[in-house]
Amino acid sequence: MKMYKIIGVILYFVYVVENKETTETSLSGVSDADVTEDNLMKELKIITRAEWGARPAQGPVNDLPVYPPPFVVVHHSATVGCTSQTICSARVRSFQNYHMDHNKWSDIGYNFLVGEDGLVYEGRGWGKRGAHCPKFNPKSIGICVIGNFTSHEPNLIAIETLKDLIEFGVSKGEIQSDYKLIGHRQGSRTECPGNSLYDLIKTFPHFDSNP
Ligand SMILES: *[C@@H]1O[C@H](CO)[C@@H](O)[C@H](O)[C@H]1NC(C)=O
Ligand SMILES: [Zn+2]
Repeated sequence: MKMYKIIGVILYFVYVVENKETTETSLSGVSDADVTEDNLMKELKIITRAEWGARPAQGPVNDLPVYPPPFVVVHHSATVGCTSQTICSARVRSFQNYHMDHNKWSDIGYNFLVGEDGLVYEGRGWGKRGAHCPKFNPKSIGICVIGNFTSHEPNLIAIETLKDLIEFGVSKGEIQSDYKLIGHRQGSRTECPGNSLYDLIKTFPHFDSNP
């Protein structure tokens, strides 16, 4: 008799713990609607402009004239990387300051940024024309992986986050499903996104060697 009670209590706690984990996982998603779409996406966390402390845009940020965009352009920041939300947020603020104060752009140039903390940082966001690769600005989403990837790849969590962000964009209709993935150097004279990251994205299924 006692044995059954003990097993019953154990099973009850296993049940409680499992349900608690399920609840916490779904809370970490972007929104309740998103988490049901794909298991991958419940891990994607987008740090909003308010959360990283963005300045308001100082000029017009226009809608993408080609929407949904058929291209994704990958960049690196050619700076030291970051592995915490605090440091990555500071980096993103510094890029925004440089783009607005030095380049005199309306806002940070990228649509999104990805840190080696596994978080996505909202730049201009979906549906907006970025300032990151003139030839492709009207028809792409520009994503910058924070770090200098000339001689080493981003860490695994950043690579997964980059892939998840693109898939999330496709699932939301914010990127064409048959999109082409390119590195910045394919559209402008630059080393960006660094040799190592460029070699890595060449292995991604949507990579386009001749855009
Ligand atoms: C990026 O890393 C490479 C190789 O380590 C180095 O030569 C280069 O100066 C770095 N770029 C910047 C902008 O710091
Ligand atoms: Zn670039």
